[in-house]
Amino acid sequence: MVRLLPEQALLSVLWTKEKGTVLRSSAGEALKECRNERHAGCRSAGRSERRVQVNSPKKDFSKSDLSLFISYILPHRRLFAIDMGLSVLIAAVDLAFPFLTRQAMKRLLPENLYLAFFATMLAILAAYLLRAYFQYQVTVIGHGMGTKVEADMRGDVFAHMQELSFSFFDKNRTGVLLGRVTNDLFEIVELAHHATENILTCAVTLAGSVVILLTINWKLTLVLVVLLPACLIFSARQRTNMQNANKEVKKKTGEINAAIESGISGIRTSKAFANERTEEDKFAVANENFKTSKVGYYKAMGLFNAGIEATIGIMQVSVIAFGGLQMMSGELDIVDLMTFTLYVSTFTMPVRKLANFMGIYTQGTAGFSRFLELMRTEPEIKDAPDAVELDHVEGRIRYDHVNFHYDDGTEVLSDINVEIRPGETFALVGSSGGGKTTMCHLLPRFYDVTGGAVMIDGVDVRKISQESLRKHIGIIQQDVFMFAGTVMENIRYGRPDATDLEVAEAAKAAEIHDEIMKMPDGYHTFIGERGVVLSGGQKQRISIARVFLKNPPILILDEATSALDSVTEQKIQDSLDRLSEGKTCMVIAHRLSTIRNADCIAVVDHQHITEMGSREELLAKNGEYAELERAQALAGREEV
Ligand SMILES: Nc1ncnc2c1ncn2[C@@H]1O[C@H](COP(=O)(O)OP(=O)(O)O)[C@@H](O)[C@H]1O
Ligand SMILES: [Mg+2]
Repeated sequence: MVRLLPEQALLSVLWTKEKGTVLRSSAGEALKECRNERHAGCRSAGRSERRVQVNSPKKDFSKSDLSLFISYILPHRRLFAIDMGLSVLIAAVDLAFPFLTRQAMKRLLPENLYLAFFATMLAILAAYLLRAYFQYQVTVIGHGMGTKVEADMRGDVFAHMQELSFSFFDKNRTGVLLGRVTNDLFEIVELAHHATENILTCAVTLAGSVVILLTINWKLTLVLVVLLPACLIFSARQRTNMQNANKEVKKKTGEINAAIESGISGIRTSKAFANERTEEDKFAVANENFKTSKVGYYKAMGLFNAGIEATIGIMQVSVIAFGGLQMMSGELDIVDLMTFTLYVSTFTMPVRKLANFMGIYTQGTAGFSRFLELMRTEPEIKDAPDAVELDHVEGRIRYDHVNFHYDDGTEVLSDINVEIRPGETFALVGSSGGGKTTMCHLLPRFYDVTGGAVMIDGVDVRKISQESLRKHIGIIQQDVFMFAGTVMENIRYGRPDATDLEVAEAAKAAEIHDEIMKMPDGYHTFIGERGVVLSGGQKQRISIARVFLKNPPILILDEATSALDSVTEQKIQDSLDRLSEGKTCMVIAHRLSTIRNADCIAVVDHQHITEMGSREELLAKNGEYAELERAQALAGREEV
């Protein structure tokens, strides 16, 4: 579940922008509608409440990394303080045990104070039980706090991604972004609570035991203190090896996952070509590499663990050897020697922890800097400070000397001049890759022009707030994205505050209502992750229903029916015609028969509009358009 959700969400980012749907809903209106509504469908009101809760004020990401990190911990400072307090108490119990044992053996045993001795032992036992309880609480509270910090960060990063522009998603792969929202954050959070906790407990136990041991016998303490850095350096190095091996495993995991994914999703193709064996061979390579990398990792892990055990052994032996020497010369008694050996394990615990912490630290900080990098990415398209809200749109569109290129710099459109009057249908035709889609994407500001201006009702789109701009534009494309959810939810995406009745009306207008009613749960039928149970034509009609619900004055149809067979196309064409009534439309046509009635047709080719006029004019001209119609007629797809 956890892994699926962000992917859905990422795809939805693209989709939201594509459709230009505004996720704002007026609770008041929704409630009003709910009152007129017989269906118990007051969901829309509940939804808007949820949305309000999520929006927390945005942090200032120009601050330093550390202060940002702290700013995420700060809201949970109470849990953090409890976590730290308990960790210190645990360290204190660890420190007290050898010390109290020593006192008991030194003072109480020689004088046969059985009662006091056993009372002390009982106290120590109680302390250990308490320690166990604290340990439990630290795990629960520490990770609980971590989870909360993680949720805050995840919310922020998701909200931020929703703001980013198309160009960002052109450049970043979904899989990588998914990793940012899941793995990276998890590692940051591990750091968030283990960092302070580990440093604190290690400092307390190390310093505490050195002080206690110094008071007992400074020479022997010196032996331990000299061994300590060697031990720390060794484990740190081993830990680094382990980490490198782990990186390799991660890389190979990515490769094997990719191999599995392509193997499974391509299974139909490989069967069709009877290429199962080739696939198996390809997979075997990835599998072998993965195995090798894991072996390497376990070797490094074995070395690390064995190394730690060995250091403990070396410390124990050194203490006994030097201590024995001192005992023979009468400088040390047996109880103190015992105390020292007990402290050796108290001593090595922080070493172990610090070594572990190094790993968490490097991974966590790397994750955090990737998180910040993403959070500091500014959306390329932002509202102008004095952006206006469009209230009423007539639908006059003008492209005025428009130039455009994507980030890679190759010119896609140059000097485009177009004027579309309200209610007119403007058709774009031409060979694939000519720039038709790009031209349409400039209108809702999915990308900004690099020269000239695009205007709606005489206002430059860059002067209009994106929200109000996109509210007035509906887009229907060849690929339709279905969100995981019910049919009802998917149609309601067109206008989140629409009532059930309105959704059904939109579905009727899009001629999908009857088919929905035949589905197992009607409007509440769950359509799988990507609408798998729906046919292409059904999906397209659902997307048309969305736009019926939104009812924008401007419509963009980008090869809306080209993926469908001609019978389905005809059916959908009727509902599209109904949808376009009275709206300003930009239609990119695949089959020329669908745009015969367009008020104006433009042929787009190699960055330019090469011909423009009504169908009659273009046919009379006998130029490129006439050629296109003849070509389609020849191909047998069209009868001219
Ligand atoms: N997101 C993008 N980033 C970079 N180049 C793009 C992007 N989308 C389209 N292009 C390029 O822009 C050109 C025009 O594409 P497009 O507008 O999709 O053409 P059409 O819709 O006419 O088939 C093509 O050369 C295409 O490769
Ligand atoms: Mg296109």
